[in-house]
Amino acid sequence: MKLLVANWKENPIMLEDALTLAKQVDHQEVVICPPHIFTAAISKVLKKASTGAQDGFYEPHGPFTGYVSMAQLAAVGVKHVIIGHSERRALGEEETVIARKIAAAFEAGLTPIVCIGETAEEHKQGKVKEVVDRQVRSAFSLLPAGSVATSREAIICYEPVWAISTNQVPGMETADTPEQAQTVARYLEGIVRGMPVTSRFIYGGSVNQENLAAFLICPEFSGVLVGGASLRVPEFKKMIKIAEHILM
Ligand code: PGA
Repeated sequence: MKLLVANWKENPIMLEDALTLAKQVDHQEVVICPPHIFTAAISKVLKKASTGAQDGFYEPHGPFTGYVSMAQLAAVGVKHVIIGHSERRALGEEETVIARKIAAAFEAGLTPIVCIGETAEEHKQGKVKEVVDRQVRSAFSLLPAGSVATSREAIICYEPVWAISTNQVPGMETADTPEQAQTVARYLEGIVRGMPVTSRFIYGGSVNQENLAAFLICPEFSGVLVGGASLRVPEFKKMIKIAEHILM
């Protein structure tokens, strides 16, 4: 089965609601990324799914008010951590910080889910490859060169910023299709080859029950990152069923 990463963003408000939601979609190959405050409790109740975080800080401990470290996340049972989500980049998170977070995630034994993707403006200007190329090279720039790639597995999420949180089937009303996302993934495969990391690719951006299969059947994608639809339990359950029927 392919991977479904659920990014709950800043939802829900109450712990009970988070636990109810998590238990209803507790399935293998599902990674639930709740707000930090719920990660410990959720990782305790999950039997099949694994727990992810939506961010983590690169310093392992110390005087860093308000931050939660990769080591602290790992200590409460978190296995994956989203790094470089476009919503954080839009709030000023820089590529140098993202690279440090990725190195720290590996150090703590977490699998980073590295989000990359071009904005609508960059897309219109035909700069897709240029942007994702720069983002990926920078993301892994702090890993020790010449070290063994297989000791680190990253998940790279290609998530065009213009396709996030829209109600459209991503790009279907424009010239963009899953094939174009595949082209980007293939291009990135070539770039990551030779870096001291092994990667698999997932797609993100308004993935829902209608368009899920179109992305999951792409051999380039090992799964998807789901925001809004992951909070709609009946829909997300249907998505799990769809993913179960699509072979790797
Ligand atoms: P969306 O969010 O599925 O609601 O577009 C995806 C994401 O931003 O991670």
